[in-house]
Amino acid sequence: MSDPRTLGLLPAPADATRLDGDVTLPARVLLRAEPALAPAARWWRRVVEESSQAEVVPLAPGTPEAVDVTFGLDPDVAAGGYRLTVGGADGGAAVAVAAADLAGAFAAAQTLRQLAGPSAYRRAGSAPAPTLPCCRIADAPRFEWRGVLLDVARHFLPKADVLRFVDLAAAHHLNVVQLHLVDDQGWRFESRRFPRLTEVGSWREESTVGTWRTGHGDGRPHGGFYTQDDLREIDAYARERGVMVVPEIDVPGHAEAALAAYPHLASRPGPHEVRTTWGISTDVLAPTDEAVDFFAELLDEVCEVFDAPFVAIGGDEVPTTAWRERVDLVERAARLGYRTADGEGDVARLHGWFLARLAEHLHDRGRRAVVWDEGLCPDLPRDTVVTCWRGWAVAADALAAGHDVVLAPEQVTYLDHRAGDGPDEPIPVGFLRTVEDVYGFEPLPAAFRAERPDLEGADAGRVLGGQAQVWAEHLDSVRRVDYAAYPRLAAFAEAVWSPSRDGDRGRADGEQGRAPGGPASAEFLERLRTHHLPRLDAAGVEYRPLDGPLPWQRRPGVAGHPRDLAAELAAGGWAGVGGWVEGREGPEASVAPAGRTSPTDGAAAG
Ligand code: ACM
Repeated sequence: MSDPRTLGLLPAPADATRLDGDVTLPARVLLRAEPALAPAARWWRRVVEESSQAEVVPLAPGTPEAVDVTFGLDPDVAAGGYRLTVGGADGGAAVAVAAADLAGAFAAAQTLRQLAGPSAYRRAGSAPAPTLPCCRIADAPRFEWRGVLLDVARHFLPKADVLRFVDLAAAHHLNVVQLHLVDDQGWRFESRRFPRLTEVGSWREESTVGTWRTGHGDGRPHGGFYTQDDLREIDAYARERGVMVVPEIDVPGHAEAALAAYPHLASRPGPHEVRTTWGISTDVLAPTDEAVDFFAELLDEVCEVFDAPFVAIGGDEVPTTAWRERVDLVERAARLGYRTADGEGDVARLHGWFLARLAEHLHDRGRRAVVWDEGLCPDLPRDTVVTCWRGWAVAADALAAGHDVVLAPEQVTYLDHRAGDGPDEPIPVGFLRTVEDVYGFEPLPAAFRAERPDLEGADAGRVLGGQAQVWAEHLDSVRRVDYAAYPRLAAFAEAVWSPSRDGDRGRADGEQGRAPGGPASAEFLERLRTHHLPRLDAAGVEYRPLDGPLPWQRRPGVAGHPRDLAAELAAGGWAGVGGWVEGREGPEASVAPAGRTSPTDGAAAG
């Protein structure tokens, strides 16, 4: 029977047929792979040898012996996709993978692991060898950028946990991990040129417990950073699984940790400290030539460590309050030709100026900058990718300006936001976003497309895909990261990997029918419960159970800050209401916490 969901795979493949019978591989598995696909075959070999008693023996390409498993090149397979046959219907190898590229072979290897059952997610196993259901699968990704952001700045995550996070992302066919390495509350990237960034910036005196509005610190120092060797290891580890690590150095806002280390870069004289509360800080970098030079040098170091063609430079939530206070910056803006209607220097434009200088610097080194959507401005090099988090409207503007975009709307893809609305939800912040809500994620909803016909203009950029965000203000351990990310990240993965299917279309507007409550959503939940949660259990993932937190996953007495999605959608529509806006505090901001001077201490996630 041909039904992509029949095998319990997650994300569901484009097409799958269950054939009669199963194949148990021999205790000594012979494997042959085209050299271009060898890294994927090697990864699969390691998984099999770790989780069973089987030995997998790679034979050189071109050798004549019959083998059990092949990884072969086929240029007719879609980019990033694969064909997989188990059962040797054509009399060939018991398992045959065909892919046009290494990315496709990695996806096939992950599918093979899923087919072997939950025990394939264990680090040791007593089965003599894996048993696989006979099947034929043809699969390809819906989007090329299937990302997840991991915030290791707000709470440091030990390197081993980052490697595990990458492993789990790869297990869901996600192929981008954006590593948010620096923020007001901590600097995690070892710079050899600027050592104070970690000496001073990598730790803080204490952390706020729950929302910043409590004003309650835990009195406990927090810190950590990754050496360049650690980061090279993370980068290589991800590459060995078909995942690209996009490092993020967030400027010119979210920079208090850098300012604590190098106060001469600040807009205000200080004193500056690594921030111990959450929310948006008005202490930002001064948009000067000196700061551009400093961060250009730093980005050179980042490029030495990370391989990816993309480097994220932030650009979100940048209050210009401190810039307006400085006559020299107002004059600088005027000299650069940035003027308000009444002829004054317009310091707000220095935000784009600053990002554009760094984006050009990266462009000159063969890398593409990635900015959050507030960074969209005419000065940006056209190859800059814009990650749209406040809503959809800005994505249309970025596309029309010729930028490629990644959709990461906080209304759907922020996994630190609360997964349930019961009283036991730990530190409930942000919008209520259930597994089903995330499953319904559509990068550019049909209703929005209908309103913006300019999305597909001749000079428009491309929608690269989508990205889920795991912000970590309230995730102080890998257990909390697991809880926030899973199983919602599995739902997100299917939304960006699996094709839409006509039979799933539940809505008259042609929207892909993954909407909560619909038949596709119900089927997904059942497949998740029956087939996928056992895989996560075997892998040791402490996900949020579908019916709510376990007793030890609660945080009684720690205040969050829920937001009302319906009200914000009514107020902001497709544009959203997130981010810092001149003259208005963020959606969560009300008053500064006791003893703090920052008037705009209110972040999207805080
Ligand atoms: C963001 O949530 N400030 C990108």
